[in-house]
Amino acid sequence: MISKKRVAIKFFVVVLSCVFVSGNAEVRCIEREREALLSFKNGLIDAFDKLSSWRSNECCEWDGVECSNTTGHVITLQCHDCGLRGEVRSSLLELHHLIDLDLSRNYFGGIPIPQFIGSMKQLRHLDLNSCKFSGTIPSHLGNLTKLRSLDLGGNDFGGIPIPEFIGSMKQLQLLNLGSSNFSGTIPPELGNLTNLLSLDLSSNSLSSISAFILRSVLESLEILDVSKNQLNGSLPDMRAFHSLTELHLPGNNFTGSIPLSIGQLSKLQVLDLSSNSLEGLVTESHFIKLDKLKKLDLSFNPSLILDIASDWIPPFQLSKLSLAVCNVGPYFPNWIRTQRDLAYLTLTGANITDEAPRWLWSTFSSLTGLYLSDNQISGPIPLLPAHAFLIQLSGNMFAGSMSSFCKTHGLLPILTLSLSNNQLAGEIPDCWEQMPSLFSLDLANNHFSGEIPRSLGALHDLQALLLHGNNLSDKHYGYSSFLWKGQESKYWNNLRLLKLIDFSSNELTGNIPRSFSTMRGLVSLNLSRNSLTGYIIPDIGKMEMLNSLDLSHNQLSGHIPKSLTEIYTIGVLDLSNNHLSGKIPTGTQLQSFNASSYADNDGLCGDPLPKCPGDRLWPSTTNPDENMNEKDGSNFSFMQEVGISMAFGFIFGFWGVIGSFTLKKSWRIAFFNLFDAAGDWFYVRTALFVSKWRRSSITQG
Ligand SMILES: *[C@@H]1O[C@H](CO)[C@@H](O)[C@H](O)[C@H]1NC(C)=O
Ligand SMILES: *[C@@H]1O[C@H](CO)[C@@H](O)[C@H](O)[C@H]1NC(C)=O
Ligand SMILES: *[C@@H]1O[C@H](CO)[C@@H](O)[C@H](O)[C@H]1NC(C)=O
Ligand SMILES: *[C@@H]1O[C@H](CO)[C@@H](O)[C@H](O)[C@H]1NC(C)=O
Ligand SMILES: *[C@@H]1O[C@H](CO)[C@@H](O)[C@H](O)[C@H]1NC(C)=O
Ligand SMILES: *[C@@H]1O[C@H](CO)[C@@H](O)[C@H](O)[C@H]1NC(C)=O
Ligand SMILES: *[C@@H]1O[C@H](CO)[C@@H](O)[C@H](O)[C@H]1NC(C)=O
Ligand SMILES: *[C@@H]1O[C@H](CO)[C@@H](O)[C@H](O)[C@H]1NC(C)=O
Ligand SMILES: *[C@@H]1O[C@H](CO)[C@@H](O)[C@H](O)[C@H]1NC(C)=O
Ligand SMILES: *[C@@H]1O[C@H](CO)[C@@H](O)[C@H](O)[C@H]1NC(C)=O
Repeated sequence: MISKKRVAIKFFVVVLSCVFVSGNAEVRCIEREREALLSFKNGLIDAFDKLSSWRSNECCEWDGVECSNTTGHVITLQCHDCGLRGEVRSSLLELHHLIDLDLSRNYFGGIPIPQFIGSMKQLRHLDLNSCKFSGTIPSHLGNLTKLRSLDLGGNDFGGIPIPEFIGSMKQLQLLNLGSSNFSGTIPPELGNLTNLLSLDLSSNSLSSISAFILRSVLESLEILDVSKNQLNGSLPDMRAFHSLTELHLPGNNFTGSIPLSIGQLSKLQVLDLSSNSLEGLVTESHFIKLDKLKKLDLSFNPSLILDIASDWIPPFQLSKLSLAVCNVGPYFPNWIRTQRDLAYLTLTGANITDEAPRWLWSTFSSLTGLYLSDNQISGPIPLLPAHAFLIQLSGNMFAGSMSSFCKTHGLLPILTLSLSNNQLAGEIPDCWEQMPSLFSLDLANNHFSGEIPRSLGALHDLQALLLHGNNLSDKHYGYSSFLWKGQESKYWNNLRLLKLIDFSSNELTGNIPRSFSTMRGLVSLNLSRNSLTGYIIPDIGKMEMLNSLDLSHNQLSGHIPKSLTEIYTIGVLDLSNNHLSGKIPTGTQLQSFNASSYADNDGLCGDPLPKCPGDRLWPSTTNPDENMNEKDGSNFSFMQEVGISMAFGFIFGFWGVIGSFTLKKSWRIAFFNLFDAAGDWFYVRTALFVSKWRRSSITQG
């Protein structure tokens, strides 16, 4: 990344100059400015005591305050994400030398931006992102002609147009007005900001870009983000924007074809045109000079047709390619083979009717996400990409056995594997210990036969296990079942937080083991359409998170256990088509279901079914020998087999880890406290880099 390198160089320059100019005697806080800060603090509600250091005489040492080393004047005030509320007092006007004001991510609930800020003419950086400001923007802000960066994103300005006066901020390099409820057209005045490097107008309701594009002289603009607006018409000719490194236009209503002039933006690294209504052909010429392109996203333009020769050698090496829901097929695009650095490849729903090429599985050594679902891709799946976290191949015509999976050496880092709705056959491979991080496994609706493999028990992080619609049976379960029995409860204890099990529509027989109920975290259990026998386990009520329970179309007999009335979360219940009998236990839960939930059994009665003939003849809902399931060792069930062999856990930290990728702005504060006014250029550069970085981590995350 070029800009990263430049930032690094500049970093050293700035650090060196700091070393040379520092060394002055310590300058104490200026009393007038200290009082102004205290008055500012007194207007605020500081619920989290973030301004607790604002007491001492030396205001230059207060958190978020920085003074000039030479004059002692306050030059920086940064209270980012401090949970502040209340009034923003105009005492800040006393800070005549303040150049950096950052009040972002606080809660000035619903008030307009204070007009006095427009009088702080010396400001160079103003960050009011996500402050819950609303209403109109005072035109006085237009007086801030020295601003280098202005961030008003993440507020709600109630659908007003973007104010034109921003055009007077000639020094502006960074402008963020994203997610702030602006509507109307993009004012051409923004096109006068000849120093602009980054313009973010995303997630508003802007309806036209053409006047802005036509009159722009933004020769230095590197990042343009107008994603998620209501921009329509055909894509404008962007040739004048020849410095662009990132062009984000997704989530609009652009129509027509992609102009060939896009291919002239030779500095482009990111091109995102996804989720529009673009049409026509995309050819090699569209990429002719894009040799720096890293991320290309044309997804969700259903009428767009990629018309690219199979021997094309693109000028770029992509890390991310998304061509979901546009016409890539009928052949598997051969040119992708040249993209050896690919980390993400998405061809979901791309109308491909072809055999998967062999190179697909082994060419990309950095591939972390592979999405090929919903095509008609055929052929075997010889091996999984070695570094992939996310693999989705469902809804294709992949066939053959998966036995070669087990020939892979070493552990695979995969989190989700989805192979459902294909024609895979043979036994489910039994080497799941090689994928210890697996979080979700979906092999539903294939032709798998044989047993549910024991090594699934190694998947401690598994949350969802979908094996329905196969030919799984339990032909071996009768053998040695006593050996395992003693260990059963120990294994089930690890299953407490598994959330989703769907084994429906197989050929499973035997009983539901009693210890199944230790899976306390189960939200959905579907065992329907098998040949299960025996009773519904009496302590099923211990699955207290259960929201959906489907045991229909089996051979279950006996009464419905009373404990089922204890599951208050249950919203979907189907016990139909079994041999259940007796009175449906009373309690608000079970009575609230439609009679069809209980239909086609041997002798169920009571609300919501017709009354039982002579209620007292019907004993309480205890099955005569509830322990039979456990005692009858000769009839050990598939479930016990599965349960015995599985030791599930729960991936506690998953979202925590993903979430921590989002960069904290406090990092920036710490970082920039190193520098004084000399750091302007650096500030903008780094903020630019940070916003790029954050954007890319979000799109990837
Ligand atoms: C600031 O802007 C307002 C509104 O645009 C204008 O009326 C006012 O004269 C300006 N103030 C100064 C000091 O330039
Ligand atoms: C934008 O502002 C309008 C008018 O106040 C309001 O009705 C709408 O809900 C706002 N939209 C968003 C996304 O906040
Ligand atoms: C912006 O530039 C146009 C010419 O492109 C000029 O007419 C207009 O006055 C400029 N606006 C401002 C606010 O500088
Ligand atoms: C763009 O949208 C506006 C408002 O919905 C509509 O009036 C205009 O005709 C559209 N323009 C094009 C080119 O579709
Ligand atoms: C796109 O434009 C069409 C016609 O102008 C309109 O019906 C449709 O709602 C628009 N879609 C979006 C997402 O704005
Ligand atoms: C898929 O591609 C075929 C040509 O291979 C084309 O006839 C068909 O219209 C495409 N389907 C869609 C939904 O675009
Ligand atoms: C399951 O196996 C039976 C025969 O054993 C076969 O008739 C049936 O088609 C198979 N079902 C699936 C989904 O493979
Ligand atoms: C359980 O699976 C069957 C088919 O496999 C499906 O028809 C049924 O809707 C599922 N039950 C629930 C409650 O989702
Ligand atoms: C119960 O389910 C059946 C079949 O789905 C439906 O026809 C009937 O209207 C439902 N009754 C009630 C009371 O919801
Ligand atoms: C000001 O001086 C202090 C103490 O010498 C030093 O830590 C700080 O980095 C200096 N700040 C600037 C902006 O030079």
